[in-house]
Amino acid sequence: MKAPAPFTFNHATHRVVYGAGCLAQLPSMASYERRTRAFVVIDEFFIGGELQARLDDLLRPLSPRFHGVPRHEPDTDTVEAARAALVDSDADIAIAVGGGSAMDTAKAARMAASNPGPIDDIVGPAGVFMHPHPSLFVCVPTTAGTGSEVSSSAIVAKSGTDYKMVLNSPEMSARIALLDPELSVTAPAGVTAASGYDAVTHAVEAFTSKLAGPMTDPFARSALSLLATALPVACREPENLDARAACLVGSMQAGIAFNSAHLGLAHAIAGALGALNHVPHGLANALALPWTMAYNQPALGAKGDEIAHLLGASTAAEGLSRLRCEVGLDQSLDDWVNDDTGRDNVAAGAMKSGQVRVNPRTPDAAAVRAIVEAMRTPTGGVQPELALEYSPRREAS
Ligand SMILES: [Fe+2]
Repeated sequence: MKAPAPFTFNHATHRVVYGAGCLAQLPSMASYERRTRAFVVIDEFFIGGELQARLDDLLRPLSPRFHGVPRHEPDTDTVEAARAALVDSDADIAIAVGGGSAMDTAKAARMAASNPGPIDDIVGPAGVFMHPHPSLFVCVPTTAGTGSEVSSSAIVAKSGTDYKMVLNSPEMSARIALLDPELSVTAPAGVTAASGYDAVTHAVEAFTSKLAGPMTDPFARSALSLLATALPVACREPENLDARAACLVGSMQAGIAFNSAHLGLAHAIAGALGALNHVPHGLANALALPWTMAYNQPALGAKGDEIAHLLGASTAAEGLSRLRCEVGLDQSLDDWVNDDTGRDNVAAGAMKSGQVRVNPRTPDAAAVRAIVEAMRTPTGGVQPELALEYSPRREAS
């Protein structure tokens, strides 16, 4: 018998509450913690709509102040506006309602309010010490995707540049994640597919990461199992509450897994595509993942078989290719990047990511460039063919 390899598991969210209609628990959670004033960071898409009206009603005893944020990834201007509004509100409970943008904005705004200096001073993917903010922080995701409600990181672009900053601290994590599937039935089909495929990518990359271990594997495995079945249903039948619920739980579990196991080459490529070409994050992962997993195949071992089994396919890459086709994301990179220089820049940008180092197979620059070239061809839902020589000895060194 072999002992588990050394690992570190990070999880800072105290409670995950899940159930249809559980949004109604917000006032009792606030009163239990003796909170009196609420600051609500919300996707501006919801401002003036039914959800804001419901929150306004539910939170009336807490005199809620709403702050809308755009749906694109937050930048330093977005965070600064949220920080100023949070400080001005003097709130003792902060609630983020929406997708990854609303949650990441709220996370970063709280830290910007409780730490000195510009936000650049608390940037660091490996975790930089941050002073806690006194507000009780609750995240309420309305789309299944980022897992930000349970992760301790946030991504913020530096306004006016292509530079994306990663902030990471347990102090940034939500204390409570509230998962109410009734809130996700209004997500448009395109958003459901792209954000859901992001969650699939989190599950697969956390499961196969070099940092995966006995505390993350069960979450990643369950996440992929739920998402593989439920995501196509949620895309076809947006009001199917069972499918929405499974996607929401799967996305949260994938978030717990990648918070410790980190992510891999598909996210490294997606990060470069987002920064350089403004490709939406979920779609960027869909463009990359079947190809990166075809590349990873020789290094996956039994986990490759397990992913294939969960997807009902003969290989992980084939299953992920079919899934992206099923949810309408089988696109060509040419739709976003259409010259050699652009593709060179994406490959070079991906190589700078720390995610490359925890990918199950270690790529060199030429391999990443070959994968980016392959991404020009839609896979048609079948096994992506990518022949790149594999050396087990190089992986071991
Ligand atoms: Fe992601």
